[in-house]
Amino acid sequence: MTRSWSSFGLDLHLDLQVTAKRRSGLESALRAAIQDGRLPAGTLLPSTRGLARDLGLSRGTVTAAYGQLVEEGFLATRPGSGTTVVGLASRALATEPSPPAPPCLRHDLRPGLPDVSAFPTSAWLAATRRVLTGARPEIFAAGDPQGRIELRQALADYLGRTRGVVAAPDRIVITSGYHQGVILLSGVLAAGGVTSAAVEDPGHNVFRQAVQRGGVATTPLPVDQQGARVDMVPPGTGAVFLTPSHQYPTGVPLHAGRRQAVCAWARSTGGVVVEDDYDGEYRYDRQPIGALQGIAPENVVYCGTASKTLGPALRLAWMVLPPHLVRKVVQAKQDADRFTETLSQLVLADLIAGYAYDRHIRAARLRYRRRRTLLLDRVAAVPGLAVHGVPAGLHSLLTLSAIGPTEAEVLDRCAAHGLGIRGLTELHHDPDGRPQGLLVGFAAPSERGYPAALDALFAVLRSA
Ligand SMILES: Cc1ncc(COP(=O)(O)O)c(C=O)c1O
Repeated sequence: MTRSWSSFGLDLHLDLQVTAKRRSGLESALRAAIQDGRLPAGTLLPSTRGLARDLGLSRGTVTAAYGQLVEEGFLATRPGSGTTVVGLASRALATEPSPPAPPCLRHDLRPGLPDVSAFPTSAWLAATRRVLTGARPEIFAAGDPQGRIELRQALADYLGRTRGVVAAPDRIVITSGYHQGVILLSGVLAAGGVTSAAVEDPGHNVFRQAVQRGGVATTPLPVDQQGARVDMVPPGTGAVFLTPSHQYPTGVPLHAGRRQAVCAWARSTGGVVVEDDYDGEYRYDRQPIGALQGIAPENVVYCGTASKTLGPALRLAWMVLPPHLVRKVVQAKQDADRFTETLSQLVLADLIAGYAYDRHIRAARLRYRRRRTLLLDRVAAVPGLAVHGVPAGLHSLLTLSAIGPTEAEVLDRCAAHGLGIRGLTELHHDPDGRPQGLLVGFAAPSERGYPAALDALFAVLRSA
């Protein structure tokens, strides 16, 4: 018979045979729980008095059972610290072989990651305290699938002010990352009859796959010096996914004429433009270009994320939708995982409304601008290396000299030196014969770690 007991605040779950003798039954149940790992080494057991009361046994029976297991080496007692489980060195648990550990990076120059060592911990803690102080109990109940109104309101103000987005709170949906947003939206578009979407080539392969997972086939849209070739959207396309402020990965912004053209395409065909504004806050030479959504709010889905400003661990992102898509996307969100966790939404809302989010981004912008300049200085000293894209974002694309090492050779050497970096080739729909290059994320290391990370990268490039 399986029963759980709670004694003096400690819960203990035992398979206790009620037919067996009481003491030996308890001993066997404890022994079995220790041997099969359910009670690991160091576990504090309930007091004899508490366990006896919970099990309806005499205290003497429990004391005797504990004593027997101490003698057998399963338990240890120390005056004042109770009875604990002793580790079994010889215990052979049937376990699956562990998956190989991810390679340990000595230097992290992967693109798209912010410097999480600069996470605004104090501001986050203070905001959490404000949110919890006097919070109504309903914040711990089931949440709103559309997202907390406090966050949607704060984002509506923030996105209008900083990105020119036309965003009423009732058009915003909070998702667990842009990744989830793409899957939900693609599913909604597929259910509405969209069979094919154009996506940038090169572009982020993970999000291309997310569109496909949502049930929509993808066709490649070439990218040149003016951004995606929106004039090449094939007939029959129902959606175009773009990174207009800072094309991922080439770093070029979408030309003004093309911004107008893709909005005109959406208006005339009823198609949807999905704007991934993943790092739109970070422009280093001038004011950021306003969001595309501001030109055609009825046809563009604007997507933003906290992954590049605070950290991807939060899984907080937002979509500003044309009215006809809101209800369907909210339903898809509810079907997927009911709602995004509430507390962090409220904390982010507090940070945005109190301008701590602005201050954090402004400080990060200064640091990242300096880092990009340092990177460019180092690149200039290596013949054949060239930097692409405008001064913006968290990464730069470097192309290699035709006579030097290949992308694969550089990536291999980086990996051998514990240096995290990404290649351009895998971001093409069809990697064969496509331009090679390196994506260097200058934001990911800590301030102290960045110079050493650059040294490591340029040592590899020189030795190659
Ligand atoms: C191009 C691009 N868009 C969006 C995101 C944000 O994704 P998420 O919000 O799911 O972390 C990333 C992050 O890697 C990205 O590289």
